[in-house]
Amino acid sequence: MAFIVFEGIDGSGKSTLIQGLCETLVQQNIPFKTTREPGGTPLAEEIRSLLLRIEDEVPHPRTELLLYQASRAQHVENVIRPHLESGDWVLCDRFTSSSLAFQAGGRKLNEEKIRQLNDYATDGLSPDLWVLLDLTVEESEKRRQHRTDSGGLDADRFERERFEFHQSVRNHYLKQASSEPEKWLVIDASHPPAQVLAQLLSTLKEKGWLS
Ligand SMILES: Nc1ncnc2c1ncn2[C@@H]1O[C@H](COP(=O)(O)OP(=O)(O)OP(=O)(O)O)[C@@H](O)[C@H]1O
Ligand SMILES: [Mg+2]
Repeated sequence: MAFIVFEGIDGSGKSTLIQGLCETLVQQNIPFKTTREPGGTPLAEEIRSLLLRIEDEVPHPRTELLLYQASRAQHVENVIRPHLESGDWVLCDRFTSSSLAFQAGGRKLNEEKIRQLNDYATDGLSPDLWVLLDLTVEESEKRRQHRTDSGGLDADRFERERFEFHQSVRNHYLKQASSEPEKWLVIDASHPPAQVLAQLLSTLKEKGWLS
């Protein structure tokens, strides 16, 4: 049984890697649950849709942080902890480290407060392994093909803000990983998917979790 979390900026290849690991677990008859944040339960998915809505009112950064944490508490208690207790592996797309990277790194909220809220929402549950898919912002933008049509100054400013935001998120992830290297596997996500998966599998074998 292992609780593995996949982190990285948008478009870094988390879904692709999780899918690859799932295929290996199926081959080895290892029971597992894949899930994601925010979301993972019906209530938490409703909170996700509140976070992703773009009309009317923009959530204040503190509101946003609390919505993520509310979704997380529900997800931990109703999905992650029960699956771990029944012996399943849990593969989770984003977890507490996303709150730190996006809300402290990106939005500049107080990091210590976020750590306290992370602990409160998870009631201390922490993954066995964090996987960071590290990719440059430029490369992730290319992959996501999110380029807006060229426009005037506003478009440029928006692009630039978005770039700097994601750059801060990436840097914060790298800082987290380097401060607890025994818990993190940092993978160069610019490599082809098969190579990224091979690096993960070899770490899981070294740990004795996979044969
Ligand atoms: N190692 C890779 N090399 C090149 N392209 C990749 C690689 N991994 C994934 N991709 C492609 O990049 C795009 C984004 O990948 P994916 O959806 O797995 O990322 P993600 O981290 O889950 O993104 P999001 O945060 O938006 O959910 C997809 O088109 C995918 O096929
Ligand atoms: Mg994804």
